[in-house]
Amino acid sequence: MLRLARFLLAPLLLTAIALLTLMLTSHPASPPAVLAALGERPLVIAHRGGKGLWPENSLFAFERASALGVDMLEMDLHLSSDGELVVIHDSTLERTTDGQGPVAAQSLAQLQALDAGYRWTADGGESHPYRGQGIRIPSFAEVLERFPDKPKVVEIKVPDVGMEAQLCAMLQAHGQRDLVLVGSFYERSLQLFREHCPGVATSAGPGSVRLLVALDWLGLGGVLSPSYQALQIPERHSGLPIASAGLLHTARERGLNVQLWTINEQPAMRRLLDMGAQGLITDYPDRALQLLGRSTRIGALGE
Ligand code: G3P
Ligand code: CA
Repeated sequence: MLRLARFLLAPLLLTAIALLTLMLTSHPASPPAVLAALGERPLVIAHRGGKGLWPENSLFAFERASALGVDMLEMDLHLSSDGELVVIHDSTLERTTDGQGPVAAQSLAQLQALDAGYRWTADGGESHPYRGQGIRIPSFAEVLERFPDKPKVVEIKVPDVGMEAQLCAMLQAHGQRDLVLVGSFYERSLQLFREHCPGVATSAGPGSVRLLVALDWLGLGGVLSPSYQALQIPERHSGLPIASAGLLHTARERGLNVQLWTINEQPAMRRLLDMGAQGLITDYPDRALQLLGRSTRIGALGE
């Protein structure tokens, strides 16, 4: 027994010293310009422009969500066959448009000839009020041009095709580096984007979220020096709860802005805000704005 204790003492001591050193040298994230400019109030983020209210990822949706008074527009990026960044969620066209097949197989002109309002329905398919209304898949350049002052959450949906460098160059060219928060389900895309675009805000990738959850569970959140500025998480994943008061507290302690997706019902919005969420990514930004006592009236269209 004594021999076992002696055997374990050195590694335990070394681990304790390493953790203490990490804790003493760790530093929290600093609020990025895009979020600092929005102040302290809970953020209402229109998921895909507010897909419960109008056709997702369209200029129409972004215009109306902006006029509604949301804080940020969330959108997804793919690449067309001729190398243009386009704003669409799925890798295929069937769910949201009258087109078929992979997004990546069509040029920007071909994608823009499709009806991006074709499938939207609020009554389970009884009616399609946005069919034939000229709603198109926008290029990312169009979104940047149309909303030069609007904060955006931009998600890289395809890794390994060079979108990271292209996205960075476009943000630079449009003077919107400080207006975006970039996220992705691909850790390698986020790492590459951070290399190309140091200083532009990013959210935690899946690996970083797992690490944060593990550290929080072990009570070791204090060792973390995040390379990202926001935590965007669902309340549950694969049936398991992720968001907890403890995790949200730890994340905020590490300087992270905590945003929950996709929160569509007001009781859940209230509960998560009370738990410490700082942003709600929602298909129904009108409900979040109403809950927060902010106007739900559509104001002047455009910026
Ligand atoms: O912000 C995160 C959220 O947008 C991820 O979900 O599938 O709608 O892109 P998804
Ligand atoms: Ca998204």
